Amino acid sequence: MIRNVHASRLIEMHMSHIYPVNDYGPLMPGLVMAAVAIFHVFLAQFAVGGGFLLCYFQWLSMTGRNQYAKLFVHGYFKVLVMISFVMGALTGVGIWFTSIQISAPTIGEMVFNFHWIWATEWSFFCLEIVAGYCFYRYHDRLTDKAALTLLVLYTFAAWASLFWINGILAWQLTPGSWVESRSIADGFFNPSFWPSLFFRTIVCLTLASLAGCVLVNMIPNLDRPAQQSLVNRAAHLMAPMVAMPILGVWFLMAMPPDSRGWVLGGSPAMMLFFMISVGASVAIGGYAVIGLWMQRLYINGATATLLLLLAFGATAGGEFVREGSRKPYSIRHVVYSSGILPEEVAELRRIGCVSNDPFPLMHEPGLPNETVTLGAKVFRRQCAVCHTMEGSNAVAHLTESWDADQMRMNIAKLQQTKPFMPPFAGTPAELEALVSYILWVQDDRPSEYAVSEDQAVLQQIAKWMDEAGTQAATVTSMEREKR
Ligand code: HEC
Repeated sequence: MIRNVHASRLIEMHMSHIYPVNDYGPLMPGLVMAAVAIFHVFLAQFAVGGGFLLCYFQWLSMTGRNQYAKLFVHGYFKVLVMISFVMGALTGVGIWFTSIQISAPTIGEMVFNFHWIWATEWSFFCLEIVAGYCFYRYHDRLTDKAALTLLVLYTFAAWASLFWINGILAWQLTPGSWVESRSIADGFFNPSFWPSLFFRTIVCLTLASLAGCVLVNMIPNLDRPAQQSLVNRAAHLMAPMVAMPILGVWFLMAMPPDSRGWVLGGSPAMMLFFMISVGASVAIGGYAVIGLWMQRLYINGATATLLLLLAFGATAGGEFVREGSRKPYSIRHVVYSSGILPEEVAELRRIGCVSNDPFPLMHEPGLPNETVTLGAKVFRRQCAVCHTMEGSNAVAHLTESWDADQMRMNIAKLQQTKPFMPPFAGTPAELEALVSYILWVQDDRPSEYAVSEDQAVLQQIAKWMDEAGTQAATVTSMEREKR
């Protein structure tokens, strides 16, 4: 019942509004989103880990365990502030700007369900900023104890903001029992919440540790033994990396079987990014264990920078997999990546997906007639999040070897063509218009273009759509397909 009320509210809200996907030329929007998000996550996790590193070093200095630690605390903090506050905050705002241009329904749904969680997260973020700024401003006047208190406060607030946002991000992939109960607690403490939180915390520590090693090399007038003692201390923060394999497996187990399937071979791109992430993590962990702990090697600026770049690669790969493996959903079972709801599909097949789309097509001048224009709008509404026409993941190229009938059938049965695509959600006439648009682009966009108006074609398309049904492909339907 709750579900139905919620669904009908959503349908109402969605049906009356279309938020066109922005066109980034040859870059597909999903990729633009991923790029901004990856950059932000990297910086934000660095900010959290940096807090832990600073607390540790402040403690080392206060307990007399390392006389240079203090030098490091006061130097490192400036970098942390510059990089994570300034760049982190800018890219954070960038995420909002990008996501509303790419999938307003998705971000709207997230805000609708979790606004209090988000407000809590922002409160901790504010605390983080205030504590951080106070330290930045007054660190040279503070007593050791006051400095430690402020750093602990900063770290606690930074980690807490990770705690809160982690629940929302994990929910997108594994909403779990929330789908039925719609309880905020079920959604927040969803199946991948804990493995994801622990995993991210370890990533934070690793990033800070590596950045610390880079920075030790930049402290002026510090001799080699002093640098070495700092590097060895900073490397301690990489110790929790040993738990990564277990947490990684836990995370994979918490994933829905089809998403896990993409990562473990079902989708070559997903698997590639997964391997990059695992490979880079193993390289960093291996260096930490063998080089830094067993042989107590010194790590120079260049090596530390290289390791930090590897860590960026690992983060990027991991985030890409997390975002990509949700397909065909942007929020599992709730919103498709296209911003269309599963519950809407049947209705859109009846009334059309762009019949109330008033927005002009900015980047497609010279459309020859109404049908092709309609097709371009259908493309924007249903395909443009994940595809471009001729740039990355280009539909005009992917369909090059297909004739018109193959196109019609494979698009009508989109979820069976590739199970990570949502079912087609428009009328047969809209699908035919989309095919005309693709053919027109493949024919180099002539200024005059004849389109078919064959009723038999439309009937055949309707038949194919009925055969495929309005549901997303499930693991079972995929297996049936294989047999
Ligand atoms: C959720 C993201 C997503 C959406 C939405 C989406 N696609 Fe795809 N599509 C993909 C991915 C990923 C591939 C795989 C590309 C590859 O194999 O290189 C793909 C593959 C394809 C292919 C090639 C299939 C094959 O068997 O080689 C075609 C054609 C295609 N999509 C057309 C469309 C059309 C038309 C739409 C809109 C009606 C659409 N897609 C919507 C993600 C999506």
